[in-house]
Amino acid sequence: MNMTNVFESNDALMLSASGIEKTFMLHQQGGAQIVALTGVSLDVTRGECVVLAGASGAGKSTFLRCMYGNYLATKGRIAIRDDSRASRHVMLTEAAPHEIIRLRMTTMGYVSQFLRAIPRVSSLDLVAEPLISRGVNEDEARARAASLLERLNVPRRLWALAPATFSGGEQQRVNIARGLIAAHPLLLLDEPTASLDAENRDIVADLIVEAREKGAAIVGIFHDEDTRERMATRIVRLNTAAASNESGALQTC
Ligand SMILES: Nc1ncnc2c1ncn2[C@@H]1O[C@H](COP(=O)(O)OP(=O)(O)OP(=O)(O)O)[C@@H](O)[C@H]1O
Ligand SMILES: [Mg+2]
Repeated sequence: MNMTNVFESNDALMLSASGIEKTFMLHQQGGAQIVALTGVSLDVTRGECVVLAGASGAGKSTFLRCMYGNYLATKGRIAIRDDSRASRHVMLTEAAPHEIIRLRMTTMGYVSQFLRAIPRVSSLDLVAEPLISRGVNEDEARARAASLLERLNVPRRLWALAPATFSGGEQQRVNIARGLIAAHPLLLLDEPTASLDAENRDIVADLIVEAREKGAAIVGIFHDEDTRERMATRIVRLNTAAASNESGALQTC
């Protein structure tokens, strides 16, 4: 596939992954190998929400991390739209770390299932930071962070505190606010509603739908069927790699 043509000829295309394989090598455990992904391909365009489905262990989170550049695919290519380039894309699977960091600032947001709290940074600052790093002035960034935390029902008394001691659901809402505040054109969401009650799950679902309607391209994992149905414009099912691998997922070499 000629990536240049694909991104030049389709303005809506945000991400193109082809032939992705990921094998983990466990050096500490006798060189055991875990095959997590075999031959996964996916194109994602603006305004769609692709929901990754499949059994536990099928490789959904692994694929999302490959698309965010956290994991390097063992095989295959992932390209992300970058209109600042003549070619209209960056080949993530060959990009230097500084290019990946730049793409995370300008283009792709990621919400992990758990917040990696930075000690001593207040929740408000944590949420405002993606805006500040994109050049929004600090007062405006904090005001927008406050209104998002308010909408997500994070109690005002918590805003000045670091989220390390928050409940799972409170941490997750801070995490979501941080992931959504900068309106990245590509959003990668790993079970963002997993530890929320029904009311807060609905609020988060509304925020995600709003982002999509404004044109974001979204790839998400949602563990409950209702949220999956509500969010998805398309469902992509990943099969457990072990099923397509006669010797099983766990191989020792
Ligand atoms: N960092 C890692 N090192 C070694 N193996 C890993 C690593 N991350 C994931 N795996 C393995 O890859 C496979 C896929 O894991 P992954 O977390 O992507 O599954 P998942 O589809 O997200 O499952 P779940 O629905 O339970 O979250 C599993 O067998 C897992 O043990
Ligand atoms: Mg997962």
